[in-house]
Amino acid sequence: MPQATYHFPEGFVWGSATAAHQVEGSNNNNDWADWETRDGHIEENGRCDLSCDWWNGRWREDLDRAAESGQTSHRLSLEWSRIQPTPDRWDENALDRYRTILQGMIERGLQPLVTLHHFTLPRWFAEGGGWENDDSPLLFDTYVRRTVTALKEYNNCWVTINEPNVIIYRGYMEGAFPPGKNDPGAAFHALCNLVRSHAIAYHTIHEVQPRAQVGMAHQYRGFIPAHKFSPLDAAVTAFNHQSFNKVFPRALADGRVRFLHKSTRLPAAAGTQDFFGLNYYTCDIVAFRPSPKNLFQARWYPPEAEPSRTGFNASYPPGMTMALNWANSYHLPILITENGIEDSQDGLRRRYLLSHLHQVWHALNHNMPIRGYYHWSLIDNFEWERGWTLQFGLWAFDRETQVRTARPSADLYAAICKENAISHAMVKEFSPAMLPDLFPG
Ligand code: BGC
Repeated sequence: MPQATYHFPEGFVWGSATAAHQVEGSNNNNDWADWETRDGHIEENGRCDLSCDWWNGRWREDLDRAAESGQTSHRLSLEWSRIQPTPDRWDENALDRYRTILQGMIERGLQPLVTLHHFTLPRWFAEGGGWENDDSPLLFDTYVRRTVTALKEYNNCWVTINEPNVIIYRGYMEGAFPPGKNDPGAAFHALCNLVRSHAIAYHTIHEVQPRAQVGMAHQYRGFIPAHKFSPLDAAVTAFNHQSFNKVFPRALADGRVRFLHKSTRLPAAAGTQDFFGLNYYTCDIVAFRPSPKNLFQARWYPPEAEPSRTGFNASYPPGMTMALNWANSYHLPILITENGIEDSQDGLRRRYLLSHLHQVWHALNHNMPIRGYYHWSLIDNFEWERGWTLQFGLWAFDRETQVRTARPSADLYAAICKENAISHAMVKEFSPAMLPDLFPG
């Protein structure tokens, strides 16, 4: 009997994503290196240390794995503190090393997608006030100009800033990331400077490299009211959607920043994205609570969601469709710049991959301009305030021995990338319990 196959469009980009601080190791010159030394900031007092040792060359073996498994692109980030270790010093050796890595990617058939800032700041920049310093957009722009000029031969697709909404929430509202604040005023100040920094970098990159494609990577978290007809649940849901999901993309579309009760105009930011970078992980149900604690709300995963072992995130595939519908309202080509789940056992990850990619396939069939998908992550790596306690990799990683081991998901993802499709045979081999859902009848 012929079996159905979900085909993806020709030329669809398949990749995985990493970030400099999470995989490179051997760097002591950024704000996270300091943050990690203070007790209680990182689970089990984890430190990044050598991490996956990409800085000393192990990027080669990991990117071999990516290329051999049919991926056609890789998203990585550059570590600003290596390129500009002090305000007046540029490290040409660091830029050379990044040139070698990008060239190595191209030689392996992996088209680079480069993020210029993924959470970590040079120590000098953080000590100078970080994103609250009103010179920060100009300082960021100087780094961007120098770096893009140096690397433009190897890359033309840039993410300026990864998840600025996460930087604001985790760093300035919850205090789980540096600078560890709980201060809405500081959050708004930093937020406006992040928007300005992106906008100025967008124009600089186009000046240096007129054919460049430039965007941001926005994290979308789905928010669903607990009671459909409750105006209070609807109000807190809309508040979350505005202040977490919409604040940055709207500012980059129309030049107006709206956050909590504040709003300001930054006209230079309008129209500064060539593509929409979308990071999607999970969704929350939201209910109003009559107490200022937690911004007048309680949140939990939808009952149909499948939480990870630690509860850090949960698989909720309809959220991928919500995320894509929302991203598509910005009328730009979409790149899914991150999507994944932590799962050391890997059963959940296989289900997550198949069910989320199935939603992507549906969206493509509704003519959504989705150009590619990057799985987070290629290999287990340093997971910020969770240290080494969460495993997001297609490849498992042993820190003691530096040994990498393919999880079944690595083979499943390789089959999908190579066939540019999800087939009945793949589901049967890797997650047979999903057959009735994915191939009914
Ligand atoms: C970040 C990654 C992180 C991942 C999983 C994303 O928000 O961009 O750096 O590792 O989530 O938590």
